[in-house]
Amino acid sequence: MITVINSVALSGIDGIMVSVESGASSSNKPRLDIIGLPDAAVKEASGRVYSAARSCCINLKKGVLTVNLAPADLRKEGSVYDLPILLSITDETKLNLCDLSKKCFVGELSLNGDVRSINGCLAMAVAARDNGFKEIYVPAVNANEASAAEGIDVFPVKNVRQLINHLIGAEPIEKTSFNRDDFLKDISAHPLDFSDVKGQSAAKFAAEIAAAGGHNLLLIGPPGSGKSMIASRLPSILPPLSLKESIECTEIYSVAGLLTDGLITKRPYRSPHHSASPNALVGGGAIPRPGEISLAHNGVLFLDEFTEFPKVTREALRQPLESRNVTVSRVNNTITYPASFMLVCAMNPCKCGYFGHPTRECTCSPASRHDYISRVSGPLLDRIDIQTEVPPLDYRDLHCDEASETSAQIRERVINAREFATRRFKDKNEFVPNASLSSSEMRKHCVMTSEAEQTLEKAYKVLSLSARGHDRLLKVARTIADIHESEKIERAHIAQAMHLRSLDRKYWS
Ligand SMILES: Nc1ncnc2c1ncn2[C@@H]1O[C@H](COP(=O)(O)OP(=O)(O)OP(=O)(O)O)[C@@H](O)[C@H]1O
Ligand SMILES: [Mg+2]
Repeated sequence: MITVINSVALSGIDGIMVSVESGASSSNKPRLDIIGLPDAAVKEASGRVYSAARSCCINLKKGVLTVNLAPADLRKEGSVYDLPILLSITDETKLNLCDLSKKCFVGELSLNGDVRSINGCLAMAVAARDNGFKEIYVPAVNANEASAAEGIDVFPVKNVRQLINHLIGAEPIEKTSFNRDDFLKDISAHPLDFSDVKGQSAAKFAAEIAAAGGHNLLLIGPPGSGKSMIASRLPSILPPLSLKESIECTEIYSVAGLLTDGLITKRPYRSPHHSASPNALVGGGAIPRPGEISLAHNGVLFLDEFTEFPKVTREALRQPLESRNVTVSRVNNTITYPASFMLVCAMNPCKCGYFGHPTRECTCSPASRHDYISRVSGPLLDRIDIQTEVPPLDYRDLHCDEASETSAQIRERVINAREFATRRFKDKNEFVPNASLSSSEMRKHCVMTSEAEQTLEKAYKVLSLSARGHDRLLKVARTIADIHESEKIERAHIAQAMHLRSLDRKYWS
């Protein structure tokens, strides 16, 4: 007789249903063959499964057992199939298990029958729910995370014996329910606050516009002027994560094996060092993992000392910045990870850091300055909507007693601007960042007054903007208009947006 147990595989952060089928043929020498494109970890399941069954006094079928993981053309990786494999080869004649056809099982086994944590549990629960399953049995440590996939009952399993007792109706396991209050408790708390940043009002306003419209931001200034301070406080002025965004982030962190417990409740902020490899930044590798750009999904990716990143790493950002996801190639397929992040880059204006400084002399030659600044290529610069200078801080600003605005005050304006923008998308009823408006959406929603149109036309010619540069300028102007709750883009909004793109002329021309 063939026994079928349901389980889930992962492709990127998407779960794919897998059937674990087992059949037995009589033989004096017991053996377990696993087929269906298993990797080395799956093949080793037999050792763990036999030992766990022995430790928990569970009788397995006798003879030569064949376990097939279907669909056979999908590569099966990792140890998540240990638990369903064990269930598929338990000797049902000795156990009266309930109907397992609407249940789904994932989990790695230890030799003593304990169920160990796995990566990607939330994505698996979501896939099981979407495929009509009513119950999923997961390692107990992953149950909080999986419970966020509301609409499917999540049962936490500590041990194989405990699971069998539940399935024969002897000792039911209590299901884990998602606790919305726990989620809402600290979603908006952030350890760093903008009130610590003295002066720098122009850079702070640029950060506010970037946050309101989801625009990429470049901060240029001499050492110690506060670029890193401003960047690290950007998540504190972004609206709190919605549950949908939180689930997306949690799926990614879980697949990457970086989830500690429950859901991700804070906007991600990632600041990889410039020695990070292209794979670490964009994802991929022999065993594919989400890169920093996916870990920053729905949050901020801060690249400090941007010019120090190798060219290949910097340029690898171009495609995901446009498509908001990243596709990594494998031997026989491709995997797509989400990567919708706000890019914030910081750099000095030249190698010594003091070009344009009011009191310190720059020691770089024009050639070295050109070489340094041109490490940020035109196409990459085109994708950074807002460029702002962070000048050296005035002594009086640093010692000013007047309290700077708090992150909460700035965030309120950001939220208002986003709510104003959301009203334009009545059909979607969700925030679409101005930075990622499509061409048709842009034409529809970026309506200008005639003066604004004239100013933009002049700017297009005088600044020799590319078509992309034009679109990006218009989108930033749309965000400034949103902050001022103005239906139409006015001349002043275009002028401000032009000012926020003026550094490419100062440094790159
Ligand atoms: N605007 C500011 N308000 C208050 N403190 C500041 C400000 N700017 C800099 N500082 C102080 O200087 C330190 C260094 O600032 P920060 O790391 O942000 O500089 P940076 O511009 O990133 O420099 P670098 O180019 O060397 O990376 C901060 O930790 C803080 O103590
Ligand atoms: Mg810095």
